[in-house]
Amino acid sequence: MPPSVAKRRTIIEPFKIKVVEPIRMTTREERIGYLERCGYNVFSLPADEVLIDFLTDSGTSAMSAEQWAAVMRGDESYAGSRSYYRFRDTVKSIFGLRHIIPTHQGRAAERILFSTVCRTGDVVPNNTHFDTTRANIEATGARAVDLPIPEGLVPSHRHPFKGNMDVERLGALIEEEGADRIPLVMLTVTNNTGGGQPVSMENIRAVAEVCRAHEIPLYIDACRFAENAYFIKLREDGYDDVPVREIVREMFSHADGCTMSAKKDGLSNIGGFLATNDEALAERERDLLILTEGFPTYGGLAGRDLEATAVGLEEVLEEDYLEYRLASVRYLGEHISSYGVPIMQPPGGHAIYIDAQAFLPHLTPLDLPGQALVAELFVEGGVRSVEIGTVMFGHRDPDSGEEIAASMELVRLAIPRRVYTQSHVDYVVEVIRAVWERRASIGGFRFTFQAPALRHFTARFEPLYPFSQEGGE
Ligand code: F0G
Repeated sequence: MPPSVAKRRTIIEPFKIKVVEPIRMTTREERIGYLERCGYNVFSLPADEVLIDFLTDSGTSAMSAEQWAAVMRGDESYAGSRSYYRFRDTVKSIFGLRHIIPTHQGRAAERILFSTVCRTGDVVPNNTHFDTTRANIEATGARAVDLPIPEGLVPSHRHPFKGNMDVERLGALIEEEGADRIPLVMLTVTNNTGGGQPVSMENIRAVAEVCRAHEIPLYIDACRFAENAYFIKLREDGYDDVPVREIVREMFSHADGCTMSAKKDGLSNIGGFLATNDEALAERERDLLILTEGFPTYGGLAGRDLEATAVGLEEVLEEDYLEYRLASVRYLGEHISSYGVPIMQPPGGHAIYIDAQAFLPHLTPLDLPGQALVAELFVEGGVRSVEIGTVMFGHRDPDSGEEIAASMELVRLAIPRRVYTQSHVDYVVEVIRAVWERRASIGGFRFTFQAPALRHFTARFEPLYPFSQEGGE
């Protein structure tokens, strides 16, 4: 147990604030107007109308003084920029992988990787694919298969490594499909779509063994690698005295490559990379990079972005930071669940997922309970969250036009890194509690417009009840 937990002192933000960005206070009436104007879809809100923005932890980190200093050191040479070498050497030293290809964000690394290795009819297993990962695999004609452990699908079930892959099902899938149809196996750390839940070192090792036995490369979706490593330190036997940096090296020693969005654990506002130990593959990937992203020493980024990420990747490994990071997410989860709010247990590394179906049990999935909760949280206190349920993953049957619900109705509150203080989180707890107390008066929503694909970004809705009539100021 880290010393500050043992002493039971408040875990404080391990930084002081040098630059501030005002947020505009709004009234309940104003917020109702904003929501009506955008068809109750919070993706359409101008960010200035949001008080606490928990839409995503991606690209929303606050950069440190050292990162801003590094921005000024950025070398904007087209070829062979000094910033590239710094970035490459930092990534190599942290992850231990040989060939480093910068990209403008995670999905660009995914597109280059999958369009290089996948053929029509191939299958790519993952603990749970993030939606851009799945879409980039499917765009090549291959199939993305999720293999989470069964505990990962039950929101209330507590398991220390709920992000693990089901190793037996992986073995069975390889038998069924044949190893030559599986160009790679992927592990997403932490498992974002599965609730920001970590993957254990034991599971990484076991998956790697299966991969090696069938000569299938193992890739890690590394977006939240440092948060995952700290969970291993806190929860897995034999790691409590191991520095996070060594845990990370061990995690990636089992992998043949990785994709990374530096917008998460790179602590930067843009950036990413693709890494591999396979030189021939790296060459083909660089050819594709030049076609759409840029020359291999900048990959669609400015030199200053490479510098900021190089510093961010070091800072994210500081254990005082990681202790505060996981504590602040846990703080939100534990406080709201102490009032009875049903959440995905235990709290994950970057977000709290409210079980909207259990929050609003009088609604059916087709009443869009997650959408109702997102709208009510915004009106109650200007808190922006995101529905991960039938709006995002449900669909219309192309033949009957009938609406098919998603398997879970969740609302994600993703916490940007180093941006909000404990009093912001206390405020969010109060907002959620107020909505919880009037939950019986909350009704359903229906679509008034939906696009044929990725409908959650642009959909419009209307409430089927007297919307947000009570509470709040
Ligand atoms: N993989 C995972 C696990 C992710 O969470 C994301 C992005 C990506 C890949 C793609 O990276 O955005 O840099 O292209 N997740 C963000 C989110 C968007 O809100 O969870 P990207």
